[in-house]
Amino acid sequence: MPIIFDEINRSFDLIAKDTQYSFYIDQMGYLCHAYFGKKLAKLNIDTFMQLTKRAYGSNISLDLIPQEYPSYGSTDFRSPAFQIQLEDGSTISDLRYRAHKIYAGKPAIDGLPSTYVEKMSEAQTIEIYMYDELAKLEVTLFYTVFEDFNAITRSVKFKNIGNMDIRILRVLSANIDFLGDNFLMLQLSGAWARERHVFLRDIVPGIQSIESRRGASSHQQNPFIALMTDESDEWHGDVYGFNLIYSGNFLAQVEVDFYHNTRVSIGINPFDFSWLLRSGESFQAPETVIVYSDTGLDGMSNTYHKLYRTRLARGRYRDAERPVLINNWEATYFNFDEKKLLEIAREAKETGIELFVLDDGWFGKRNSDNSSLGDWYVNTEKLPNGLDGLVKKINELGLKLGLWIEPEMISPDSELYRAHPDWCIHVPGRARHTMRNQLILDLSRDDVCNYVINTITKLLKSADISYVKWDMNRNMTETGSAKLPPERQRETAHRYILNLYKIMEEITGRFPDILFEGCAGGGGRFDPGMLYYMPQIWASDDTDAVERLKIQWGTSIVYPQIMMGSHVSAIPNHQVGRITPIEMRLSVAMAANFGFELDLSKLSGHDKASIKASIENYKEMRKIIQFGEFHRLLDPFKGNETAWIISSEDKREFLLYYYRILNGPNEFPRILKIKGIDTSLQYLLTDTDTVYGGDELTFRGIILPQIEKDFQSFIMHFKAI
Ligand code: DGJ
Repeated sequence: MPIIFDEINRSFDLIAKDTQYSFYIDQMGYLCHAYFGKKLAKLNIDTFMQLTKRAYGSNISLDLIPQEYPSYGSTDFRSPAFQIQLEDGSTISDLRYRAHKIYAGKPAIDGLPSTYVEKMSEAQTIEIYMYDELAKLEVTLFYTVFEDFNAITRSVKFKNIGNMDIRILRVLSANIDFLGDNFLMLQLSGAWARERHVFLRDIVPGIQSIESRRGASSHQQNPFIALMTDESDEWHGDVYGFNLIYSGNFLAQVEVDFYHNTRVSIGINPFDFSWLLRSGESFQAPETVIVYSDTGLDGMSNTYHKLYRTRLARGRYRDAERPVLINNWEATYFNFDEKKLLEIAREAKETGIELFVLDDGWFGKRNSDNSSLGDWYVNTEKLPNGLDGLVKKINELGLKLGLWIEPEMISPDSELYRAHPDWCIHVPGRARHTMRNQLILDLSRDDVCNYVINTITKLLKSADISYVKWDMNRNMTETGSAKLPPERQRETAHRYILNLYKIMEEITGRFPDILFEGCAGGGGRFDPGMLYYMPQIWASDDTDAVERLKIQWGTSIVYPQIMMGSHVSAIPNHQVGRITPIEMRLSVAMAANFGFELDLSKLSGHDKASIKASIENYKEMRKIIQFGEFHRLLDPFKGNETAWIISSEDKREFLLYYYRILNGPNEFPRILKIKGIDTSLQYLLTDTDTVYGGDELTFRGIILPQIEKDFQSFIMHFKAI
């Protein structure tokens, strides 16, 4: 039984594979956190109850109680998990336990993306019903534990069961109060073209947080944090990961209190948010995926990877090998016609590429980024035979066709904007600031939402399109909706995300055979919310091989390699001007979802031959590369080298990827210890006769080939014999 209720102690043990999460109901009816970590033979709940004795002396101090979902306004002075406002203006609440229900399986969350199970036996769920007597507010806490993953999901639902309005001012999805503050906080932060760099910091008394106020999960911060104990690292020790399945404004926060205890919370960003809950209405907060590992970051990452690959991603492509693609963006930008596209496609076919993706600029009058978003009809000056004509020609070459769209946006210079100037996100009387010359459609409006569904459906029906790149290239400013009443203006950003999810659910449901790839100016919305609808995301607009090492390493902290689009591009690189050899660019892109983004006709014979050979190799190894386990070995944030392996799940076969940025003079051969393989197996290094013991590779290591130049890399293939 993964969820056990002890009636005597009124305690709950939630067991997810080898992980235990325990809490209990104290004498006041508060839900108190007791333990989160490695599964225990026995947990003495009474020792935790000593805390409550101290808390409930002659004066009550809730500050002493580690809580599961803390309220605001009483004697807990830490950040609350939620805050409400009643009609009398008061903002105090007091949540007490009322009842609970335990059942097999995991319910879907209405209107929001979430992890799921395929069989009831894969998970158990507990719903805890908490109640605020005065506010007539029922709060349901959902916890699900997976049988096969060291993962627990949490979400929260508020229901107004009284007759008065309740305004929700803050509604986080999860809160955990750890005893002690022996932790470091890891976050994935960056900017456009350098997304998800890894930052690790000490935590100190007070609040340390990351957030997005941009209307998207953002390039700047990913909705993820991990706590690592002081003694943990890549391969050892306790790590706790928190990842919000949400694509909008979020807050992830670590608060160290004056007793040196640590409160972690995560959810929708309360900044500029509120939600009016009328009598009888409910509000559902997004799901948080909490992962525990006692084998360092590697263990945590591998739990997220497999869970997201198999129980977050959906649809036909979840388990299908993804095609090697070529995208015309960096090859042509807006400057193309059918002839040019076919030229690129013809060359692509010769190298073994399977899918041709037509990027921005094929519609309306779009010859630069300053017009036509919203006018989703083909530009016949560029494509005289229409999309359908292009698809036929591409298909005749033996390739499939993919199409770029940016359906959430509207250009001020567009027919759509001229017809519906109030359809963008805006506040009357305020400037409508453009970014990349565009505004955002107000998807919080149902009419706009339905318009997008109908237009994109019509477009995707108009030709045999096999793949869609769904882009989104600006953040939200002047946030407000012409359709919402004043008291609901602060709901706009969340309503936008809810309706975006509705659109994506409709479109991906109507076109189950299309492979969807998410994108937001590169990796500006690389989050599990998007991955629920689209099983891969363009990781970054930065295609430079060296920059990509950091981006892909950082992304791999949470997200599996199959979900990261990674392309080989031209040199000098368009983002940083760097010149790297084709081998380096290939071996970086081949560690993820492989593609190209350059004009192949401009390459040398040597480069073309390398590309052809690499695509052949990739296809042979594709199953392992896309679906295998990813283990990080040498950290690009720490030096000149990067290494990782991708191994089959049974560890009988693996690829070692090694990259060295700058060469050094007169160096001794380097030795690299390989982790994540089976120490009891014997591995043949393919294309040689050398057999290594898995133990030898792990504990002694492999002597690396001599490096002779800057920007060198190699991929070694090992097979158990
Ligand atoms: C941003 C994307 O990240 C690029 O790959 C490209 O699709 C451009 N948008 C097109 O405008």
